[in-house]
Amino acid sequence: MQHLPRAVALALAAAAALATSGAGAQTAPLKIGLMLPATGTYAALGDMIEKGFKLYVQEQGGKLGGRELQYFKVDDESEPSKAIDNANKLVKRDQVDVLVGTVHSGVALAMARVARESNTLLIVPNAGADDITGSQCAPNIFRSSFSNWQPGYGSGVVAAGKGYKRAMTITWAYAAGAESVKGFTEGFEKGGGKVIKDLKLPFPNVEFQALLTEIAAQKPDIVYAFFAGGGAAKFLKDYDAAGLKKSIPFIGAGFVTDGTLEAAGPGGQGVLTTLHYADNIDTPRNNAFRKSFALAYKANADVYAVQGYDAAQMLGAGLAAVKGDFAKRDALQAAMAKAVIDSPRGKFTLSRQHNPVQDIFLRESKGMNNDFVSIAVKQLADPGRGCKM
Ligand code: PHB
Repeated sequence: MQHLPRAVALALAAAAALATSGAGAQTAPLKIGLMLPATGTYAALGDMIEKGFKLYVQEQGGKLGGRELQYFKVDDESEPSKAIDNANKLVKRDQVDVLVGTVHSGVALAMARVARESNTLLIVPNAGADDITGSQCAPNIFRSSFSNWQPGYGSGVVAAGKGYKRAMTITWAYAAGAESVKGFTEGFEKGGGKVIKDLKLPFPNVEFQALLTEIAAQKPDIVYAFFAGGGAAKFLKDYDAAGLKKSIPFIGAGFVTDGTLEAAGPGGQGVLTTLHYADNIDTPRNNAFRKSFALAYKANADVYAVQGYDAAQMLGAGLAAVKGDFAKRDALQAAMAKAVIDSPRGKFTLSRQHNPVQDIFLRESKGMNNDFVSIAVKQLADPGRGCKM
């Protein structure tokens, strides 16, 4: 260095010191890997989650905990067989700091495996797979949405409370459908009802006719369904066209009518569902969120937008606690675990297993909204079965 001017030499030495201390890495943008469906029956859900996440970041001036964010994206196609490879594109190739995803439970379970093995921070903004905050729970795995058991259990409690005795269920044969039905059955049978038959078809098939014929033949007191996205809109239409909407009471997990009402047409009107969000919750927080979302995207927010928004809030709470220093991972995760999230759904905290403890609302679809009817179950916590943490 003796031939360099003194100022240049000092600058070089300072840069070298910064590089070895790693301090430079804490001012670079934090890398966020968004793994969501951009194609298939859940494409619109992925889009709403991304919009919600980015809206919260924008409202904070584009930074969380003083850190700018850089986004990396993969379309997971809601395809479990490609999930490990897709997650590794973000973790190994792009070297993201945080994984955010996804919608489909089977894909999210694979993401959780990758996150555990690589110790990448994972925030699940939808997929309800019970195991993510159950047997697969980990200090670096968080969920901003729900467990499949939660809305299902709420529907079971409501159906039993209305005095129905014999129920049939219908869903897709994969983790989300099975767990949602399990939650319904638990709530319904605890209240004195009996599930007489579970009907299923492969995800994401929409050939409902044979199953609807079976419902018509069995004439249960009530039908419970879990479907979502494009498939749910088709289900509502077919259920109506088969004449069942008029003859057999129905209740569903709220995903059946969230983001699907336009496509469902008249079949989507007046449908009762249970979920941790209702469009018209009349609080300053929800009203401000819906206004901000509508201004930014010229579209109405739904539950998926809320969950994406809250995923960003959770990360923001962690980053704020460590002043943006992502290397302080233990402190960051501890702050996320005990944060009170000021969600449009209402304030929530996380269970010991990192799943939201939240009210489950009974809603009724009207126009393009899912309107609040009542609180089906107050402050419902997923049991978090099998979590060792
Ligand atoms: C899931 O696979 O866990 C899932 C998918 C779509 C929803 C809800 C849950 O709307």
